[in-house]
Amino acid sequence: MNDMTPTSAERAEKLEGMGCKRKRVEDIRFVQGKGNYVDDLKIPGMLYGDIVRSPHGHARIKKIDTAKAAAVPGVVAVLTADVLKTVNLAWMPTLAGDMQMVLADGKVLYQNQEVAFVVAESREAAADGVELVEVEYEQLPVNVDPMKAMTDGAPTIREDLKDKTDGAHGKRKHYNHIFSWAAGDKAATDAAFAKADVTIKEFIVYPRVHPCPLETCQCVASFDKIKGELTLWGTFQAPHVIRTVGSLISKIPEHKIHVIAPDIGGGFGNKVGAYSGYICAIVASIVTGRPVKWVEDRIENLSTTAFARDFHMEMEIAATKDGKVTAMRCYTIADHGAFDACANATKWPAGLFSIVSGSYDFPAAYCLVDGVYTNKAPGGVAYRCSFRVTEAAYCIERAMDIMAQKLGMDPAEFRLKNLIRREQFPYTSAFGWQYDSGDYHTAMNKAMESVNYKKLREEQKQKRDAFKRGETRELMGIGVAFFTEIVGAGPSRACDILGIAMFDSAEIRIHPTGTGICRLGTKSQGQGHETTYAQIIATELGLPADNIMVEEGNTDTAPYGLGTYGSRSTPVSGAATAMACRKIKAKAQMIAAYMLEVHDDDLEWDVDRFRVKGNPERFKTMTELAWAAYHEVPPGMEPGLEAINYYDPPNFTFPYGAYICVVDIDVDTGTTKVRRFYALDDCGTRINPMIIEGQIHGGLTEAFGIAMGQEIHYDDDGNVTTASFMDYFLPTAVETPHWETDWTTTPSPHHPIGAKGVGESPNVGGVPCFSNAVNDAFAFLGSTHIQMPHDHWRTWTAAEKLGLHG
Ligand code: CDP
Repeated sequence: MNDMTPTSAERAEKLEGMGCKRKRVEDIRFVQGKGNYVDDLKIPGMLYGDIVRSPHGHARIKKIDTAKAAAVPGVVAVLTADVLKTVNLAWMPTLAGDMQMVLADGKVLYQNQEVAFVVAESREAAADGVELVEVEYEQLPVNVDPMKAMTDGAPTIREDLKDKTDGAHGKRKHYNHIFSWAAGDKAATDAAFAKADVTIKEFIVYPRVHPCPLETCQCVASFDKIKGELTLWGTFQAPHVIRTVGSLISKIPEHKIHVIAPDIGGGFGNKVGAYSGYICAIVASIVTGRPVKWVEDRIENLSTTAFARDFHMEMEIAATKDGKVTAMRCYTIADHGAFDACANATKWPAGLFSIVSGSYDFPAAYCLVDGVYTNKAPGGVAYRCSFRVTEAAYCIERAMDIMAQKLGMDPAEFRLKNLIRREQFPYTSAFGWQYDSGDYHTAMNKAMESVNYKKLREEQKQKRDAFKRGETRELMGIGVAFFTEIVGAGPSRACDILGIAMFDSAEIRIHPTGTGICRLGTKSQGQGHETTYAQIIATELGLPADNIMVEEGNTDTAPYGLGTYGSRSTPVSGAATAMACRKIKAKAQMIAAYMLEVHDDDLEWDVDRFRVKGNPERFKTMTELAWAAYHEVPPGMEPGLEAINYYDPPNFTFPYGAYICVVDIDVDTGTTKVRRFYALDDCGTRINPMIIEGQIHGGLTEAFGIAMGQEIHYDDDGNVTTASFMDYFLPTAVETPHWETDWTTTPSPHHPIGAKGVGESPNVGGVPCFSNAVNDAFAFLGSTHIQMPHDHWRTWTAAEKLGLHG
């Protein structure tokens, strides 16, 4: 080796593999406005669909007259439920085992529900047609309050299910009841509460919010009558699931359906399910023989396609006098709207909510969730969260603060006393989850030291004293949150969608020149998959990341996968990618042994090559081995260098984080300023620290929006009053605080590269942290819990209730 020969470390750096802040390759097209989104698609002869929607929250449909709409120049067809019935598509199955109207059949169950689909030569003509569809309604009593859904005399939401005593998840207790789902040990929990020194009980609401991706839901359906084939381009987070569900619903054979998800502008769970717009576009294409585009507008997106949360939780904690938790109990009413179209793994009607014991060592725990129907839009998706983990984290983190307050303990000290200890991992929670790895105390202590927590509390004390003396009208709040996530759905023993196990896949082909392509069953919506999967391959195979193309979203080319949501891409497809690489590497090793005329075992891996043990000058690089795989394989070996892996994870991964927030609240206006927000995340092995930071920034911004102002609100008549960005708070760079990010690294012991998911952590941990900060500001005045969202008006009202306005 001469001085010019690059060292192993130099060669590794050049690959831009795991740990490198590699620039996002997809941004080359995105920052130039050259992304290829569904609405960029223009096909000759393409028609446009637009939807007639219900102005009422609950009403019987007496008559629909489409004659005037059909007469508008350019209108080609108008679909109603009666038309859809002729092809047996008036109702469609949901992922949650319910049935959902595609177009209103007999009555409408929530405002803006789909009533008719107008197809025209142009968007404008379709919109004109929508205006002229005449619908005669007879209004019915409305219920938008989940707490009243199961009372006597509540309006019957689902007449089709009225007399059904069994639902998809067991017995129903009321005509508006969907399911009951329980976890934990009730008897042990009740016993622990009976002998507890101290208990708290609080009603904690996580309001209905919406993922509101920048690009709304949309599709183009094109049915080829000659071949009997359907091509569907769309904003799909899970293209293969859409193909399978599309085939089951439409009866078009699955191999004749081609689903393509091009670039997607944010998903956050909103783009997982199947919507009426998709079905109508498909039927319209079959009926007209032409491609049909459907693009949702903002109001339609906010008010009809999949909402999130709407969990109403009665939470209790039991503890000893000196602050050791002994049990937790939680009863929840989940408002699923008019149809149960919740996107959960099949066995989990309340998602992974039983992670609600959080990061703490609870000896006993129990939770019970009742799902109910109301006159609201259906959905209940994992908005930047793993199937209800966000609701769970909010619930436990608020409750821990309330208990600390009752015990007169500092909330951070109370957490430190109860966090699961490092030596307890792998830790089995009272709900039966096995947390894979963690070092919570190191994370919490690092967070507290980084913000100088002690000094902040001293400053707060001085401010509180000054407030009591009437010298200031400002309150300071310090929010602490420690969360544990459960991501990577999922092990097939626990998770499936409509019976399909929730594995995921990667297929890698290395070309003769040492470049390659990796195709996956996941689908990026902005997370940077094209960049990061290539980094895994770079490290595993010793080929530069720039030499690997990553392709997702085309069901004809990608291996079957369950898609991207719930931060499952890294835990599941990231693992599949590493495992596929290892198959390739094993073959490359045999080729190297043949070429170097040694036994396989005499070779060792060194960054980008196999070298002979004890004789490092004799080696074959991966690029050389790729070439050899196509012309010089050992006798009897198949040529080529490719592999596929379907990865069924042995467990979920459990990322976690310690967040601290400081707010200053003007009690006379309710104005809340976020002075500081510090987020420490542990997502195991870090693939791309820059992308992780971007994910944290984005998720914290969403958390800020949710905690400080968002709510999909309905008035008592069922009108959705926050269906545009005029009324629904979407933070811009102007309102968004500065984020301080930090990390620790505790690899997952069961993941091939030790990585856990990260994308949703900041949303999960951020919301309780903001809420704890606002609540903490008022806690010394005797306030225990102020409901989200903490907009200025509600905060002003909280101050008013505490008598702070004189
Ligand atoms: O499923 P989704 O892509 O939404 O979530 P994820 O698996 O948490 O990944 C989000 C982004 O962060 C991807 O680009 C990952 O490759 C990256 N990431 C990372 O660099 N290191 C990790 N340990 C986890 C995720």
